[in-house]
Amino acid sequence: LRQPIICFRPIRPSDLEILEQIHSDLFPIRYEAEFFENVVNGREIVSWAAVDRSRPNDENDELIGFVTARIVLAKESEIGDILSYDPLKSDQTLVYILTLGVVEAYRNLGIASSLIREVIKYASGIQTCRAVYLHVISYNNPAIRLYKKMSFKSVRRLQGFYLINGQHYDSYLFVYYVNGG
Ligand code: ACO
Repeated sequence: LRQPIICFRPIRPSDLEILEQIHSDLFPIRYEAEFFENVVNGREIVSWAAVDRSRPNDENDELIGFVTARIVLAKESEIGDILSYDPLKSDQTLVYILTLGVVEAYRNLGIASSLIREVIKYASGIQTCRAVYLHVISYNNPAIRLYKKMSFKSVRRLQGFYLINGQHYDSYLFVYYVNGG
């Protein structure tokens, strides 16, 4: 079996089709066309792609994993109240992880962990940034284990946060503090 050679790079416009495909394969939620356009064009969204350079030439730049995130103002976020947050410093920010995924054939190789580390590194480099946070559906045990392993703290359970095919599901809100958060 080939040894994968995993590299990380920004997401680009040419990734649009595969990015949409993987999202619809991995997530129970539908995302708007505008979301994918914003991701590939880096419009208000930061993202990282994982690729396997050991694959044949026509596939060695194809996405096998991704993370997408957005910078939000702490005062406009739902977690302003749990940060050691100075209301005089109204420019404080957070990084909100929107989506994270790794295609099945590449799971359990540490790729998602590396993608999250990229986000944490990025957030730590923003002076105004106090935390990285995200929502995860309450039955997604692999993802919950991953966030706990990465030292994210579960700070809230939000009842009926997700609506999928007419069913409500709870979510956990996970936070990773940076810069003295
Ligand atoms: N069962 C239980 N725990 C798991 C599993 C699993 N099948 N897979 C990963 N984990 C946990 C473990 O704690 C693992 O650590 P360990 O190897 O030391 O035991 C840890 O995750 C790290 O694993 P990685 O290899 O870094 O994770 P991977 O690259 O496999 O990706 C992911 C994990 C992203 C959750 C993947 O399974 C996936 O894409 N799932 C479908 C999409 C999804 O659920 N995304 C997250 C939704 S939340 C959000 O997007 C904000």
